[in-house]
Amino acid sequence: MKIDIDAARLSEELAELARFTHAEPSPEGTAVTRVVFTEDDLRARAWLRGLAAEEGFAIREDAVGNTFIRWVGIEPDLPAVGTGSHIDAIPHAGMYDGTVGVLGGLEAMRALKRSGQRFRRSIELLLLTSEEPTRFGIGCLGSRLLSGTLDPQRADSMNDTVDAESQGTLSDVRNAAGFTGDLASVRLEPRFYHAWLELHIEQGALLEREGLPIGIVTSIAAPAGYRFTISGFGGHAGALLMPDRRDALCAASELILSIERHALAANAASDTSDTVATVGTCGVFPGAVNSVPSRVVLQLDIRDTDPARRESVMQSVRCDYTEIAGRRRVQIEEELVNADAPAQSAPHIVETLDAVCAELGISPKKMVSRAYHDSLFMARIAPIAMIFIPCRGGVSHRPDEHSSPEDIARGTLVLAHALARLAAE
Ligand code: GLV
Ligand code: MN
Ligand code: MN
Repeated sequence: MKIDIDAARLSEELAELARFTHAEPSPEGTAVTRVVFTEDDLRARAWLRGLAAEEGFAIREDAVGNTFIRWVGIEPDLPAVGTGSHIDAIPHAGMYDGTVGVLGGLEAMRALKRSGQRFRRSIELLLLTSEEPTRFGIGCLGSRLLSGTLDPQRADSMNDTVDAESQGTLSDVRNAAGFTGDLASVRLEPRFYHAWLELHIEQGALLEREGLPIGIVTSIAAPAGYRFTISGFGGHAGALLMPDRRDALCAASELILSIERHALAANAASDTSDTVATVGTCGVFPGAVNSVPSRVVLQLDIRDTDPARRESVMQSVRCDYTEIAGRRRVQIEEELVNADAPAQSAPHIVETLDAVCAELGISPKKMVSRAYHDSLFMARIAPIAMIFIPCRGGVSHRPDEHSSPEDIARGTLVLAHALARLAAE
């Protein structure tokens, strides 16, 4: 079957999507900030629905804003083949993370349609809501709800951490954005999808380093998120003498370094680099230069290919912070945001991707995804796999994130061929 990807159109659409941003322009590259349910996100969604409507694809949105764009197959009652990713972007990010899987998925569907083939199964592009944790503190919001991984009531009561003025919850924010209805209705029936495939930039440098154009993801590492609240005693920066201090930020600093120390020790013990831990936000109260910090909130992102090792790092951190809290006379509260299991790709879909690559003369690399993706949760309700394409220097979550038009088109071609095979099953 001859499938032609319109690489020029796909590049233009990626550039156009990058214009829906509230990031300050950056000398480093195309800076994108597109937080879920902000005006830029809503305008980008409307633009994407317009592209899908032009093709005559059926469009449906659920109560959390997951958007289903379906090319109905010859046997519409059969479980569909799904593909997709996200278009939300963390602050000051790049223009390829997630978007390649959404616009590449759309172009794969258009290319299949242009080829004149029809398929037994419907092929469905899914734009998943809030893969990034920026606004509500938890990643993969849409796919967690689709897969029944997150309690709908808990989800609706999660606080908006970005728009501090609104002091709203997910329920308030999604309703204001026009996504009403009961979150419990978001969950998909088991076997809704016959197969699920996500195209994504690698966000690491292995493909580039090895000169390989396509990665086939065989598993996705297990992420966890924690929030720490450190409460001490504030006061005047001049008058509160050092022996009397219970500085929450000093205690938080020790906690951050303890996390780094134990992650490094886990890597040394396993002779791998599989444990990664990041404290990426630090909120200091009251946040004045002449005021001793009385309260600090930290968010920790910790991941591992082995969830047991991830937990053992956390145990060591707990021992440390109990000691830090005692010595510094502060309180340290730990709150679990999420602790997820890893996901395995389905052998059948990996074999399909192998066969497609062989047909196209591509040597792929089998690899682990260390970033998380919505596919981590789609794996709970469908057989999944992912296609990775190289990105320059392995850079991601930065404005200088870059994948070449050729690599994007190649990944889209592999996706289109794989969707065709799976939809014909
Ligand atoms: C996804 O954005 C991740 O942080 O892995
Ligand atoms: Mn991301
Ligand atoms: Mn992503």
